Amino acid sequence: MEKTFAMIKPDAVQRGLAGTIIARYEAKGLRIAGMKLMMVTEEMARKHYAEHVDKPFFPGLLKYITSGPVVALVLEGRNAVAEVRKMNGATNPLEAACGTIRGDFAQDKGRNAVHGSDSVESAQREIAIYFGDDEVLEYDYLPAKWLFE
Ligand code: RTP
Ligand code: MG
Repeated sequence: MEKTFAMIKPDAVQRGLAGTIIARYEAKGLRIAGMKLMMVTEEMARKHYAEHVDKPFFPGLLKYITSGPVVALVLEGRNAVAEVRKMNGATNPLEAACGTIRGDFAQDKGRNAVHGSDSVESAQREIAIYFGDDEVLEYDYLPAKWLFE
Protein backbone atom coordinates (compact mmCIF):
# COMPACT_ATOMS: atom_id res chain seq x y z
CA MET A 1 0.00 0.00 0.00
CA GLU A 2 1.20 3.54 -0.77
CA LYS A 3 3.08 5.45 1.93
CA THR A 4 3.51 9.19 2.32
CA PHE A 5 5.44 11.45 4.65
CA ALA A 6 3.55 14.10 6.59
CA MET A 7 4.74 16.61 9.13
CA ILE A 8 2.89 18.63 11.74
CA LYS A 9 5.05 21.74 11.66
CA PRO A 10 6.29 23.69 14.72
CA ASP A 11 3.50 26.29 14.63
CA ALA A 12 0.78 23.62 14.81
CA VAL A 13 2.57 21.71 17.59
CA GLN A 14 2.99 24.93 19.63
CA ARG A 15 -0.67 25.80 19.09
CA GLY A 16 -1.79 22.45 20.49
CA LEU A 17 -3.16 21.17 17.19
CA ALA A 18 -1.11 17.98 16.86
CA GLY A 19 -3.82 15.70 18.23
CA THR A 20 -6.55 17.33 16.16
CA ILE A 21 -4.52 16.97 12.96
CA ILE A 22 -3.51 13.36 13.67
CA ALA A 23 -7.19 12.60 14.37
CA ARG A 24 -8.13 13.89 10.90
CA TYR A 25 -5.62 11.61 9.18
CA GLU A 26 -6.75 8.68 11.33
CA ALA A 27 -10.43 9.35 10.67
CA LYS A 28 -9.71 9.31 6.92
CA GLY A 29 -8.48 5.76 7.38
CA LEU A 30 -4.79 6.38 6.84
CA ARG A 31 -2.73 3.84 8.75
CA ILE A 32 -0.05 5.36 11.00
CA ALA A 33 3.10 3.46 10.03
CA GLY A 34 5.54 5.81 11.77
CA MET A 35 5.19 8.71 14.19
CA LYS A 36 7.54 10.72 16.37
CA LEU A 37 7.98 14.09 18.04
CA MET A 38 11.35 15.43 17.05
CA MET A 39 13.46 18.47 16.24
CA VAL A 40 14.35 19.01 12.58
CA THR A 41 18.07 19.72 12.25
CA GLU A 42 19.41 22.18 9.68
CA GLU A 43 20.92 19.23 7.81
CA MET A 44 17.55 17.45 7.63
CA ALA A 45 15.79 20.64 6.54
CA ARG A 46 18.31 21.25 3.74
CA LYS A 47 17.79 17.70 2.48
CA HIS A 48 14.01 17.80 2.80
CA TYR A 49 13.63 21.17 1.10
CA ALA A 50 16.56 20.76 -1.35
CA GLU A 51 14.36 22.00 -4.22
CA HIS A 52 13.85 25.30 -2.37
CA VAL A 53 17.37 26.11 -1.08
CA ASP A 54 17.91 28.87 -3.62
CA LYS A 55 14.47 30.46 -3.20
CA PRO A 56 14.16 33.80 -1.42
CA PHE A 57 11.89 32.28 1.23
CA PHE A 58 14.34 29.50 2.14
CA PRO A 59 16.10 31.25 5.09
CA GLY A 60 12.72 31.91 6.68
CA LEU A 61 11.57 28.36 5.96
CA LEU A 62 14.74 26.95 7.54
CA LYS A 63 14.30 29.08 10.67
CA TYR A 64 10.61 28.10 10.93
CA ILE A 65 10.99 24.37 10.45
CA THR A 66 13.87 24.09 12.95
CA SER A 67 12.25 26.41 15.53
CA GLY A 68 10.53 23.79 17.69
CA PRO A 69 9.34 20.20 17.78
CA VAL A 70 7.47 18.70 14.86
CA VAL A 71 5.46 15.48 14.60
CA ALA A 72 6.86 13.37 11.77
CA LEU A 73 4.43 10.85 10.32
CA VAL A 74 4.48 8.01 7.83
CA LEU A 75 0.91 7.45 6.65
CA GLU A 76 -0.32 4.60 4.49
CA GLY A 77 -3.37 4.22 2.30
CA ARG A 78 -4.42 3.35 -1.25
CA ASN A 79 -3.65 6.87 -2.51
CA ALA A 80 -1.91 8.22 0.58
CA VAL A 81 0.15 10.89 -1.22
CA ALA A 82 -2.83 12.50 -2.96
CA GLU A 83 -5.15 12.05 0.02
CA VAL A 84 -2.81 13.86 2.41
CA ARG A 85 -2.13 16.68 -0.10
CA LYS A 86 -5.90 17.11 -0.51
CA MET A 87 -6.48 17.08 3.25
CA ASN A 88 -3.63 19.56 3.85
CA GLY A 89 -4.95 22.02 1.24
CA ALA A 90 -3.22 24.69 -0.82
CA THR A 91 0.23 25.91 0.29
CA ASN A 92 -1.15 29.38 0.99
CA PRO A 93 -3.85 29.05 3.68
CA LEU A 94 -5.67 32.00 2.11
CA GLU A 95 -6.26 29.83 -0.96
CA ALA A 96 -6.84 26.60 0.95
CA ALA A 97 -10.47 25.45 0.97
CA CYS A 98 -12.44 25.33 4.19
CA GLY A 99 -12.39 21.76 5.44
CA THR A 100 -8.69 21.38 4.69
CA ILE A 101 -6.15 21.56 7.51
CA ARG A 102 -4.53 24.74 6.19
CA GLY A 103 -7.92 26.24 5.33
CA ASP A 104 -9.24 25.58 8.82
CA PHE A 105 -6.19 26.11 11.04
CA ALA A 106 -3.72 28.51 9.36
CA GLN A 107 -3.55 32.02 7.92
CA ASP A 108 0.01 32.54 6.64
CA LYS A 109 1.98 30.77 3.88
CA GLY A 110 5.02 30.84 6.17
CA ARG A 111 3.07 29.23 9.07
CA ASN A 112 0.99 26.68 7.22
CA ALA A 113 0.80 23.95 9.87
CA VAL A 114 1.51 20.82 7.85
CA HIS A 115 3.61 19.20 5.16
CA GLY A 116 2.77 16.36 2.80
CA SER A 117 4.97 14.70 0.18
CA ASP A 118 4.12 15.70 -3.41
CA SER A 119 4.81 12.29 -5.05
CA VAL A 120 5.58 8.68 -4.18
CA GLU A 121 9.25 9.32 -5.01
CA SER A 122 9.36 12.38 -2.72
CA ALA A 123 7.69 10.34 0.02
CA GLN A 124 10.35 7.62 -0.17
CA ARG A 125 13.11 10.23 -0.10
CA GLU A 126 11.56 12.17 2.80
CA ILE A 127 10.74 9.08 4.90
CA ALA A 128 14.43 8.11 4.67
CA ILE A 129 15.46 11.55 6.01
CA TYR A 130 13.31 11.32 9.13
CA PHE A 131 12.89 7.60 9.91
CA GLY A 132 15.11 4.57 10.29
CA ASP A 133 13.90 1.31 8.74
CA ASP A 134 12.99 -0.07 12.18
CA GLU A 135 10.80 2.97 12.92
CA VAL A 136 8.34 2.34 10.08
CA LEU A 137 6.09 -0.48 11.22
CA GLU A 138 4.13 -3.12 9.37
CA TYR A 139 1.19 -4.44 11.37
CA ASP A 140 -2.33 -5.73 10.80
CA TYR A 141 -4.58 -2.73 10.25
CA LEU A 142 -8.01 -4.18 10.90
CA PRO A 143 -10.08 -1.28 9.40
CA ALA A 144 -8.50 -1.95 5.98
CA LYS A 145 -11.19 -4.46 5.03
CA TRP A 146 -13.84 -1.81 5.75
CA LEU A 147 -11.98 0.91 3.85
CA PHE A 148 -11.20 -0.76 0.55
CA GLU A 149 -13.42 -2.86 -1.72
P1 RTP B 1 5.05 21.36 1.85
O1 RTP B 1 6.19 20.92 0.96
O2 RTP B 1 5.52 21.94 3.15
O3 RTP B 1 4.00 20.28 2.01
O4 RTP B 1 4.28 22.53 1.14
P2 RTP B 1 3.84 22.62 -0.37
O5 RTP B 1 4.30 21.40 -1.13
O6 RTP B 1 2.39 22.94 -0.37
O7 RTP B 1 4.64 23.89 -0.83
P3 RTP B 1 6.14 24.03 -1.35
O8 RTP B 1 6.09 24.83 -2.59
O9 RTP B 1 6.82 22.69 -1.39
O10 RTP B 1 6.78 24.93 -0.22
C1 RTP B 1 7.36 24.34 0.92
C2 RTP B 1 7.10 25.19 2.12
O11 RTP B 1 7.86 26.39 2.07
C3 RTP B 1 7.13 27.43 2.69
N1 RTP B 1 6.92 28.49 1.72
N2 RTP B 1 6.96 29.72 2.05
N3 RTP B 1 6.86 32.53 2.02
C4 RTP B 1 6.71 31.87 0.87
O12 RTP B 1 6.56 32.41 -0.20
C5 RTP B 1 6.73 30.42 0.93
N4 RTP B 1 6.55 29.61 -0.09
C6 RTP B 1 6.66 28.37 0.41
C7 RTP B 1 5.83 26.85 3.17
O13 RTP B 1 6.01 26.41 4.54
C8 RTP B 1 5.65 25.66 2.26
O14 RTP B 1 4.79 24.70 2.85
MG1 MG C 1 6.29 20.70 -1.08
